[in-house]
Parts: sequence; C-alpha cells; structure tokens
Amino acid sequence: MAFITDIKTFAVLGTGVIGAGWVARALACGLDVVAWDPAPGAEAALRQRIANAWPALQKQGLAPSASQQRLRFAETVEVCVRDADFIQESAPERLALKCELHAQISAAARPDVIIGSSTSGLLPSEFFVDAVCPERCLVGHPFNPVYLLPLVEVVGGERTAPEAIQAAIQIYQALGMRPLHVRKEVPGFVADRLLEALWREALHLVNDGVATTGEIDDAIRFGAGLRWSFMGSFLTYTLAGGDAGMRHFMTQFGPALELPWSYLKAPELTESLIDSVVEGTGEQQGQRSIAELERFRDDCLLAVLGAIKTTKAQHGFAFNE
Ligand SMILES: NC(=O)c1ccc[n+]([C@@H]2O[C@H](COP(=O)([O-])OP(=O)(O)OC[C@H]3O[C@@H](n4cnc5c(N)ncnc54)[C@H](O)[C@@H]3O)[C@@H](O)[C@H]2O)c1
Repeated sequence: MAFITDIKTFAVLGTGVIGAGWVARALACGLDVVAWDPAPGAEAALRQRIANAWPALQKQGLAPSASQQRLRFAETVEVCVRDADFIQESAPERLALKCELHAQISAAARPDVIIGSSTSGLLPSEFFVDAVCPERCLVGHPFNPVYLLPLVEVVGGERTAPEAIQAAIQIYQALGMRPLHVRKEVPGFVADRLLEALWREALHLVNDGVATTGEIDDAIRFGAGLRWSFMGSFLTYTLAGGDAGMRHFMTQFGPALELPWSYLKAPELTESLIDSVVEGTGEQQGQRSIAELERFRDDCLLAVLGAIKTTKAQHGFAFNE
C-alpha cells in the first residue's frame, strides 16, 4: 500500500499546548493547516498561541510561503480531515476519547493518508482499535514546544504497516524533525519513561524536604542538563570512565546501583506535596506570565540548538546525527 508523503494540507485535531505546537510547525513549513477543537473559544486561543510562537519561528527561518493566514478552523472532525494529506491528533490523554475520535477521523479521511497521534504513552494497538484502515495509524509523539524541538517518537501498533512507519518518518523529516522509530510498543515509549523516572525522583526529593523545586531545577540546568542536550546519558558516561571507557565506568559505579539512591516508585500525591510543588514553582515563575516564559524558553532553545549545530559542523557531525 502506498501512502501520501508529499503533503500540502496538514490537519490537527485538538489545539491545546501540543496541537497548537503542531499547527505552528506546519505553518512555518509553508503548509496549509486545518484545525478542529471542540472547546469554546478554541480558535482564538489557538491563534494567540501561534502569534506567541511566531517570533521564534521567524528567528529560526520560515519557509518562503509560510503564513499564519494559511490556518483554517473547521466546524467538524469530518471537515477538518476530509481533504488532509496528513492528520495529527492531539486530544486529551484518555483512552476512550482517543478510541472514539480515531474511529471518526479514520472514517472520514482518505485511506492513503497517515494518521498520527501525539499520545505521551497510550498504546496504539489499543486506541486505534476501531479505526478504518488501521494500517496507516501510528503514534508520532512530539515534545513541547513542538515547533522547535526536533524529536518525534514514531510507534506502530499491531496492525500498522511498516510502509506507514516509513512514510511518517519521511513526513516528519520534511517538517524538520528528528524521528526516532520506537520498535517495541511499550507504555511511555522511550523518552517519557526516562523523564518519568527523573520526575518521580524529583517529587521524592521535594516530599522528603531535601530540596526545593528551584534547587532541583538548578541541579539539572547547571549540570547534567547541559550535557544531555548534545550527548545524552550513555555517551556522557562513556567519557566519565576516562580512557578506560564504559567498561571501567560500569565497574566503578556498578555498586551504587545496589544502594538506595533512587526509589523509582512514585510518592503518594498528597495535598501537601502538591502545595509544595505549586508554591515552589510559583516562586520560580515570579511575576512572569506563561507566555513570557514561553518566549524566554524559545529563545534559549534557539540559542542552544544554534550552538550545537555550529559546533557539530566544526567537528564533522551532521545536525541530526
Ligand atoms: N503537554 C505535553 O508536554 C505533551 C507532550 C507530548 C505529548 N502530549 C500529548 O498530546 C496530547 C494533547 O496534550 P496537551 O498537553 O496538548 O493537552 P491540552 O489539554 O493542552 O489540549 C487538549 C485539547 O484537546 C481538546 N479536546 C477536548 N476534547 C477533545 C476531543 N474529543 N477531540 C479533540 N480535541 C479535544 C481540548 O479542548 C484541548 O484544547 C495528549 O495525548 C498528551 O499526552 C503532551
């Protein structure tokens, strides 16, 4: 079966944080975008989000034909998807909702159009269960902000065709992304499993009164976070082993794995833990609005991405290597 890979019209269902990010990325690439969201006032909120993201996209470089005017809001799911060349669902993370929505989307979409879901960790075999032509249905899990971060995890379900995975990878690449094919369908995929482990540990540290939310963020952003952005964990630890490399590192730090350094089981989400986290992050946020912080984050990401790109080129690496 051949799937459409040369896309002109991009459909987005659900236009919250993630859906709006997809809309911004697709518009910046010069595509026509059709969006649908059932919430009252969703169109105005979406246009506001796109306007907030646009300065960063301009700095990054827009396609010659890119325009916020190429966004159209549809009245129904069917109108949103019927002429689309690619469909990305970003509705709330609820299994029953996604099952029902995908039955509706896939019945109205052309059969050779790929349908991606932004789910953070639900299994595609479960929520595409009632989909028409399930061989073109898959997960394309992005990261916030979708319009700047390149990673998208591509995960097929039991009935997804291998050709559909390849077509989705091609499409996401054309959108300037770095697809990672997650070959086993596991809850949380790869990236969120890692993030979840760190998040659980961070909540324990707050809960035990070891550190505030701000101190924990400092521990990441002035240390490991800087290394992660270009080397990840395994390559970083290879260097930590010195000339003897990874084998030495694993022998040296192996015993720590037996120590109670990490709990991994999540702490109970008590009101007092929630209060501590909300108060701590409130202090970190200060007087700045979320939109201001989003623009600050975008400029930092552009600076980091730009610096990594330049340095990789100096050392003979391609940017997506
Ligand atoms: N927030 C993140 O960091 C993040 C990252 C990656 C993936 N995701 C995934 O993306 C998806 C959307 O998450 P979000 O953070 O954008 O949530 P969100 O709450 O910001 O947005 C969800 C949107 O879906 C709309 N909606 C409600 N019912 C709907 C329906 N039946 N059909 C279509 N849309 C409907 C809501 O009105 C809302 O605008 C989830 O599956 C989530 O797991 C989130």
